[in-house]
Amino acid sequence: MNFNNLDQLYRSVIMDHYKNPRNKGTVEDGSMTVDMNNPTCGDRIHLTFDIQDGVIKDAKFNGEGCSISMSSASMMTEAVKGQSLADAMRMSQEFTKMMLGEDYEITEEMGDIEALQGVSQFPARIKCATLAWKALEKGTVEKEGNTE
Ligand code: FES
Repeated sequence: MNFNNLDQLYRSVIMDHYKNPRNKGTVEDGSMTVDMNNPTCGDRIHLTFDIQDGVIKDAKFNGEGCSISMSSASMMTEAVKGQSLADAMRMSQEFTKMMLGEDYEITEEMGDIEALQGVSQFPARIKCATLAWKALEKGTVEKEGNTE
């Protein structure tokens, strides 16, 4: 597949997640809730998770934002469901490396998120793509601080 075809494929994956978001909504009685906004535009995300024994059993999001931030949230919630919080943090680190143009490793469980790789070439949009992951990191740090 040449670069243009790959670019087109990635664009269609992003638009599919934007138009048909996975895991949109709220986890009732979720054990972890996080709110975060993108200070550069004011867009916001609300995450709820059901976490049992350190494993993310369910993950949902609500929010308002651009196609990049909302598709990233859809992909993130897909990727982390069924993962331990520690593995979700590792995924977040790899995603950040991808956004920074560093060497990264995307595993199969991480699903479609590599479709956002091209965002790394647009520094103004990187905060859009990382919003959901930063919210996940914030929630995890707060939760670990509260429970351990
Ligand atoms: Fe606001 Fe992308 S423009 S999150």
